[in-house]
Amino acid sequence: MKVLVLYYSQTGQLKEIADNCIAPLVTDNSIDVDFVRVETEHQFPFPWTRLTFFNAFPESVYGTPFKLKPIEVDYSKNYDLIVLAYTVWYLNPSIPISSLLQHPNAQHIFKGKKVVTLLGSRNMWVLAQEKVKHHLKRLEADLIGNIVLIDRNKNLVSIITIIRWMFYGKKSPFWGFPRAGIIQEDIENSMRFGEVILKRLKVNKLTDMQEELNKLGAVDINPSLLILEKRATKLFGMYAGFLSKKGDFFNKDRLARVSLLSYLLPIGAFILSPITTISSFLISVIKRKELEADIRYFKQNSLKE
Ligand SMILES: Cc1cc2nc3c(=O)[nH]c(=O)nc-3n(C[C@H](O)[C@H](O)[C@H](O)COP(=O)(O)O)c2cc1C
Repeated sequence: MKVLVLYYSQTGQLKEIADNCIAPLVTDNSIDVDFVRVETEHQFPFPWTRLTFFNAFPESVYGTPFKLKPIEVDYSKNYDLIVLAYTVWYLNPSIPISSLLQHPNAQHIFKGKKVVTLLGSRNMWVLAQEKVKHHLKRLEADLIGNIVLIDRNKNLVSIITIIRWMFYGKKSPFWGFPRAGIIQEDIENSMRFGEVILKRLKVNKLTDMQEELNKLGAVDINPSLLILEKRATKLFGMYAGFLSKKGDFFNKDRLARVSLLSYLLPIGAFILSPITTISSFLISVIKRKELEADIRYFKQNSLKE
């Protein structure tokens, strides 16, 4: 059996997750695994500066495709499974992955293929996965599994640690704050999901495996983060429009608005997050059934019509 892992990881965190998760397949002699890194021609810097980080906002939100370096996929191999490993940028698939899914060769790569998505993000990924589901449907691929690793620390704590990590490249614990990013133990334990995939490959049963993955904790959705994410995505759409009016990604004219966003967004997050914690508690009481149905939907792979 042949497996293709397509990924983009800027700091290496997602690559480490993919390495751990896919390890059972790599060590099995009967499975042939190829890792292919997806890269844009434009190099997003790491660590980021304040302006470069927030300048990626409109294109992330709109899913504007960027030019990619040649995608090193061996098209002669008829892969049995594609693992699409991606991170989330501004509640959307990262620009490199969104560019891949809209690339002229995407149909060639994905059409008719079984796909498992593997995410490594801070903690807001649900609506990004909906976009990926739409892309995969358009590409006529069959999404059979989703595995999500997030930073399980409190939302405001992870905002602080990720800002330090993204802007200064520092992941270490400081002033009582934990290490930035996804807990190492969670990364290492992701091997259990690879074992499910391996078992399915061996018996040639590549059908929807979400229920089996969910039993192992592949997708965990926090109701209050889901409510916050839905609110934020509306604001993001409005703000992306405000920035884009001043020009595209390479246009310096929009940097004043980008700078404004760089203050508004963290302030907004710190105000919205505690308010949402309270209001989501009320919503979870008043609209319990609706919220539960939402969560059930986001934990599986089909797409709402
Ligand atoms: C520009 C940018 C925006 C991000 N936005 C989100 C987000 O909306 N939700 C989220 O859960 N994580 C977000 N993250 C965190 C990433 O999903 C990811 O966890 C982190 O960048 C490390 O990934 P890496 O393996 O590519 O280094 C963002 C990261 C960057 C660089």
